[in-house]
Amino acid sequence: MDELKRLLFSSRSVVVLSGAGMSTESGIPDFRSPTGVWQDEDLMESMSDGYLKRHPEEFWPKFKLGFMSEEYLSAKPNPGHLALADLEKMGKDIAIYTQNVDGLHQEAGSRHVYELHGSIKTAYCPRCRSEYGLEYILSEEVPRCHWMNPKGQECDTILFPDTVLFGQNVRHYEYAAISVQQCDLMLVLGTSLTVYPVADLPEYVRRDKTKLAIVNLDETDFDSKADVVIHGKVGEVLSQAVKF
Ligand code: APR
Repeated sequence: MDELKRLLFSSRSVVVLSGAGMSTESGIPDFRSPTGVWQDEDLMESMSDGYLKRHPEEFWPKFKLGFMSEEYLSAKPNPGHLALADLEKMGKDIAIYTQNVDGLHQEAGSRHVYELHGSIKTAYCPRCRSEYGLEYILSEEVPRCHWMNPKGQECDTILFPDTVLFGQNVRHYEYAAISVQQCDLMLVLGTSLTVYPVADLPEYVRRDKTKLAIVNLDETDFDSKADVVIHGKVGEVLSQAVKF
């Protein structure tokens, strides 16, 4: 913990890579722990680009079950999210690349958040590209596009979520890789580092310039390459670590 404190205090630029373990203390389950979302294998197989395009009517109730449940929608930022926002308020140059789609980093006050796997907060029409917000998405079991053409005909196409599904491209990846190469400290928080290409991001750490710190309940494949590894709860560890 003292070494993490020292690295956080002495680093000017910090790049964070966060995963589902960042939000479990907010009541949102992760994916691969024994109580994770992917224990439901049917749900996991349905969260793909191919399934959405082949079965959009069946996709949406499953997507809402997994990612728009009451525990998701009522979740609030936890001390881990708040500690990262505090680091920014202290004047640290901090960029957060998150695999999470829950928007909790932004809600905690962090201003430089890049959603590598998109967000549950919006959806779009694949036909006319109209954008829709969360309230509308929740108002219909299978949300459709209500855009009207000049003849008064409704588009009526089933919307697609702005969440990155299996088989779709991750967002901001190149920018994330460059940021990792240029920062003083890369902080990996609450991720199993098992889904590529995001899991490759710690490989971009330049050993002559950047330190790597990992805070995760379970071991990761990058633990041996990290300067600091803490197997603990992100919320507890970070809230302690930022008290300089
Ligand atoms: N504090 C620290 N670590 C935690 C906590 C916590 N409070 N809770 C869980 N963890 C750890 C778990 O031990 C696990 O190693 O967080 C990690 C979460 O790993 P995953 O469930 O695999 O989630 P994640 O790494 O974010 O998955 C990446 O996979 O299926 C896709 O799109 C999905 O974005 C997700 C991606």
